Amino acid sequence: MTWRLCLGLALGLMSGLWIGCASPQVHGLPQGQTAGLVPMPASLKLRGENSQGRGFRSDGVLKVSWPEHWAMTPMEAWLTHAGLAWSRSHRDDAQVLWSHTDQPLGPEGYTLTVENDRVVVEAQDAEGAFRAWTTLRQLMPAVCEQGCPRGFELPAVAIQDSAYLAHRGLLLDCCRHFMAPSFVKDMIDALALQKMNVLHWHLTEDQGWRLPIEAYPKLTEVGGVRTEADGTVHGGAYTKQDIAEIVAYAAERHVTVVPEVELPGHSRAALAAYPWLGCTGDTLPVPHNWGVFKDVYCAGNDSTMAFLKAVLDETCEMFPSEVIHIGGDEVPKVRWAECPKCQAKMAELGLHSEAELQTHFINEIGAHLARKGRRIMGWDEILEGGLPEGAMVQSWRGMDGAVEATHLGTDAVVSPTSHCYLDYPLRSTDLEEAYSFVPLPEEAMGHEGQIVGGECNMWSEHAPQHLVMSKVFPRATGLAEVFWSGPAVTQQPGAYDAFLVRLDALSQRWGFLGVTPGLEGVPVEVDVQPDTQGQVAVTVRPAIRNAGGLVTFTPDSEMPSAEVLRGRVGETLRVSGIGSVDVDVAMRGRKAGVVERFPVAGHLGAHRPLELSYVPSVHYTGGGPQAMADGRRGSLDFRDGAWQAVQGQDMMLTVDLGEPKALEKVQVQCYLYQDAWIFLPREIRWEVSQDGDHFDLLGSTQANDVLAPDGRQTVVPFSLEGGGKQARFVKLTMVNAGVCPAWHDAATEPSWLFADELVVLGR
Ligand code: ACM
Ligand code: ZN
Repeated sequence: MTWRLCLGLALGLMSGLWIGCASPQVHGLPQGQTAGLVPMPASLKLRGENSQGRGFRSDGVLKVSWPEHWAMTPMEAWLTHAGLAWSRSHRDDAQVLWSHTDQPLGPEGYTLTVENDRVVVEAQDAEGAFRAWTTLRQLMPAVCEQGCPRGFELPAVAIQDSAYLAHRGLLLDCCRHFMAPSFVKDMIDALALQKMNVLHWHLTEDQGWRLPIEAYPKLTEVGGVRTEADGTVHGGAYTKQDIAEIVAYAAERHVTVVPEVELPGHSRAALAAYPWLGCTGDTLPVPHNWGVFKDVYCAGNDSTMAFLKAVLDETCEMFPSEVIHIGGDEVPKVRWAECPKCQAKMAELGLHSEAELQTHFINEIGAHLARKGRRIMGWDEILEGGLPEGAMVQSWRGMDGAVEATHLGTDAVVSPTSHCYLDYPLRSTDLEEAYSFVPLPEEAMGHEGQIVGGECNMWSEHAPQHLVMSKVFPRATGLAEVFWSGPAVTQQPGAYDAFLVRLDALSQRWGFLGVTPGLEGVPVEVDVQPDTQGQVAVTVRPAIRNAGGLVTFTPDSEMPSAEVLRGRVGETLRVSGIGSVDVDVAMRGRKAGVVERFPVAGHLGAHRPLELSYVPSVHYTGGGPQAMADGRRGSLDFRDGAWQAVQGQDMMLTVDLGEPKALEKVQVQCYLYQDAWIFLPREIRWEVSQDGDHFDLLGSTQANDVLAPDGRQTVVPFSLEGGGKQARFVKLTMVNAGVCPAWHDAATEPSWLFADELVVLGR
């Protein structure tokens, strides 16, 4: 038994009474049917075997009673779906009794007791009752999600529970990729089951406008459709009927839909529909590439303001939420700086900067919404020209915005990129990292403003609908526990391991609910060690629980003499030549449908002494000073930890092979991703030497001005034949491309140079 019980509970069990404890009692590894409880309730007491308390056994016929004025529609539908012969009864006959109580149970609080074939739930209102229903549902066997008409059993428990944070949300970006209304409802169901209560619905963006506005039909007709780089068309928009159904569906589950209408930036789709909304009036397409665009709503044009007010009026008709999210993030000010209308507005109002113009603009929007009884929320950039009156702040660039907001006396919601961005790969934020999040930093405590909530953000640039569930879950489940249960649960020693056990139990339900979770973390990692010169020892190891799989080394097509090697996770392959190790990942011995690729190279320079003429960026060290000759090569993910990079500098490096070798080929690969300011080197030079002092040119390549098609992320290898030339030292110089070119959004900023690895093949 690994439960740690508080003194109150121990006494309670001994005396047969339930006695409350101030903090959660159940830590350690959960077990039995309570194992599926996620998030963990504030207090969970099990009836021990030494007490007379019996649990609950149903033969499939169920009498249920609840107060007349509480709508329990989702529970009714679920009981019917589970095939149970249930009926609404008088409270005295009820096996499952829902009661109103005036006891202060805390926000969304409830008590739930299962004992002697009776379930009793008490709550102050229907919202608390709904949260209790999700707990009761998680206590029932997972198979009931599909049907348990012959009945089920429940363990004897007493639960007391309430919410740590009032606002527990998921941002769903249905703009970059449109998501079907039925999918949005599935998501709401999955969130509600984990006691999340906000769907922050991102409905307008550069790459797509999805919100139906009768006054401006072209927003969806023109702004809702884009032509992708390959010529295919991506489009979609919700109807008012879709939205009414989704809002009602969410409300039944006590989930508030907070719509986000982005302004003044991220507005290219609107400008495509109505070019007069922008500063230049230029007709622009709905973009198909990602990033931050210079063209935004004109802040000096009264017609643009009137347009936005009309859009928000219709938005308020569709969404009853008190909070309306107005975006406010990532607004370049270059158009405003050049626009006569914007400049005239600044002069008229005596504003000193474009940041102040943004605050004025948002203030006017905020005042309009306040007259309708609504409150605006915006991303933390809205603080930059002074906090717009009454605005709530959503902190995404770390926690500073939230701290500043609380100091300024307003409320904040936290969703920092460090823990809450579910579009980020597992390599940046895995489940354990998400679960470790502490949403209330000390600096934000004790001020008039408060951190009232947390959100996880699912931006969909790289996630069409079929990938979204696997990015959201299980990380959103970890964050649901962070937001509902709080640090009293999540920061306990051993809490993460206990959470994983409960997550496994919860996951059994997901198969029935349209939730297809992804992995907890990057499943495997690669270790490349020195072997004989010209060869490296490559071992793939599991990086999360239950991970394994088959490992294959395949040489690059340019390497006809190298062999294909095969093994398993945990075994070592001896690799010579350039190629990639592919891991066909298995979880618990079953294929996970995930292939992890690690480019490697066994070569003469691997793990040999290396001299660098530069200091790599602290963000891209490649893992250390040996990174450019460690046998591991960078992958298509420039954040994989293998790439080494500098900004605005050249890279020069020399490897010492120890003794003269006959060179067959040298190679380096560089990264190209112009949207992230990463360009190919202007020139690559190879030099060789016998003594390390006098170098001869082996060859050079000009790569100036090469661009990736459609701005895609690309790895570009640069190889040179060695012709059998004898050399002990090989020097590689990569000349930086200089500043980003004039057409680039970051024109005049120093560009990045990414490289890995200096490969030397020969004998
Ligand atoms: C954001 O991620 N741009 C709020
Ligand atoms: Zn303007």
